Amino acid sequence: MAASFTFQLTYWAPRCIAVLAGLWIILKSMRFAHKKVFTAVFPPIMDRITQVYNIKMNDFKLELFRELTDLKQQSKDPLTILEIGAGSGANFQYYPAGTIVVPVEPMKTFDSYLKSNAEKCPDITVKDAVIAYGENMKTISDDSVDVVVVTLVLCSVRNVSAVMGEIRRILKPGGRFYYIEHVYSDQRNSWVQLAQRTLNPVWELVTGCSLTRATWKDIESGGFTRVNYKKFNAPLSGGGALMSPHVMGYAVK
Ligand SMILES: C[S@@+](CC[C@H](N)C(=O)[O-])C[C@H]1O[C@@H](n2cnc3c(N)ncnc32)[C@H](O)[C@@H]1O
Repeated sequence: MAASFTFQLTYWAPRCIAVLAGLWIILKSMRFAHKKVFTAVFPPIMDRITQVYNIKMNDFKLELFRELTDLKQQSKDPLTILEIGAGSGANFQYYPAGTIVVPVEPMKTFDSYLKSNAEKCPDITVKDAVIAYGENMKTISDDSVDVVVVTLVLCSVRNVSAVMGEIRRILKPGGRFYYIEHVYSDQRNSWVQLAQRTLNPVWELVTGCSLTRATWKDIESGGFTRVNYKKFNAPLSGGGALMSPHVMGYAVK
């Protein structure tokens, strides 16, 4: 009996370990390949998507960023805008002449797109991108920027409240955080909300972006002195309708 048990153990244990190790290696390789492909393919796709998005959202972006001109006029020094998850630099065209822009972007592969969009906006000064996640921008000093901009980023960050903490830390007192984000529909059991809930696991796995974040709540509880936003449906059609529920506004440190 004992001999049979010892035989079974010595027979199965190494086989089980080999199978588990094989699965682990396959999963690790798949994740590695996904990351490699994703970092190569994502920037050109995103650059194209944000051009189309900007055409559809132009009026909303003009409305959101209009105040930057007033802030610039009120400031003695050049206005410093730090943009988290700047991507290809699709927002540069909305910044007033004379502003200094600091893009923060974790994916180095966006660099050529950032440079090319910076060249199209010679009236602003775009600094070299800081390669960092919004959750940890340790090279940016406390109380050092006038404005933080975040558009279509909070759907994909790992820790929204850590990003809120970092925004509060780096903004000067009274500084403003402007945002436009696609969010979870608040229309209970609408087809958009049902589709967002149903498709989110696969969507998140493939794109790294969540369709079900109630981002306005994270901003409301982000420790700002004032929060102002409006919810609206962005004019996005086809598959984009899943991202149609939007929130935009600003928060003050
Ligand atoms: C959908 S793109 C939006 C790009 C740009 N903000 C725009 O509106 O065109 C999302 C961007 O967020 C960046 N991102 C993802 N997770 C991030 C994080 N934790 N911190 C900062 N940026 C992040 C991605 O690399 C990507 O550039």
